Amino acid sequence: MTDKSLAEMFPELVAFLPCETPDQWIEEAAKPENLDIILIDHANNELKAASAAQSLILRYKDGVKVTGQKRIPCNVDLLNKMSRLAREELRHFEQVLAIMTRRNIEYTTVKASRYASRMLKHARTWEPAKLVDTLIIGAYIEARSCERFHKLAPHLDAELGRFYLSLLKSEGRHFSDYLTLAQEISDEPIEDRIALFAEVEKEAMESPDEEFRFHSGVPVKTSEAA
Ligand SMILES: [Fe+2]
Ligand SMILES: [Fe+2]
Repeated sequence: MTDKSLAEMFPELVAFLPCETPDQWIEEAAKPENLDIILIDHANNELKAASAAQSLILRYKDGVKVTGQKRIPCNVDLLNKMSRLAREELRHFEQVLAIMTRRNIEYTTVKASRYASRMLKHARTWEPAKLVDTLIIGAYIEARSCERFHKLAPHLDAELGRFYLSLLKSEGRHFSDYLTLAQEISDEPIEDRIALFAEVEKEAMESPDEEFRFHSGVPVKTSEAA
C-alpha cells in the first residue's frame, strides 16, 4: 500500500488531468456487487490498450504519410515505446484474468464505455495531426486509469488494492510516453489540442452516465436502484 498522494508520485500526470474522479464513481466502484463489471471492463481495457499500441506500430512503422509524396521518416522511439507498452498491457491482462479466475468471475460480454470514443470523435483526420491527437488521447486514457487505480485502491480488498497500486508505475510511464511522443512528432505546439481534449475528458468524467464502467462518468443508476 502507499500513503503517497498521486501528486507526490506523478505531479505532471495530475497537472495534465482536468479533474479528479467524482466521489460518486468511487462509491459505486467500491460496491462488492460491481466487482465483476470493474474487472471484466478492466481486462477489456488492457487488451484494447495493447491492441491500440500494436495498431500504431503497424500504421506508422514506415513513417507518416503527410501529403502525396511527403513523408515523415519512421520514428523508432514510437515503435519501441509502443512495443514495450503492448507487452506490458498484455501482462496486465493476464494478471486481471488470473484474479477473475481465482474469484470465479465469468468473462462475459461487456459493452465499451463512451469514454475513448468521445475523445476520438475530436481527432483530426489528416497527418501528422491524426497521429498527434491519437497520442494525446492515449495520454488521457493512461493518466485517467492511473488516477482511478490510485483513488479506488483503498476502497477495495487487500489483494485488489495491492494489485491496483502495483499498476501505477507502468500506467504513469505510459502516460508520459504518449505525451512525449505527441510533443516530439508535432511540428507545432500541442497545448491547444491538450486543452481541447481536457475539456472533452472532463465532460465525460463529470456528466451523468447510464453505463457503469472503469472509465464511466457520474453513475446515474446506482446498484441499489437498478
Ligand atoms: Fe495496463
Ligand atoms: Fe497502460
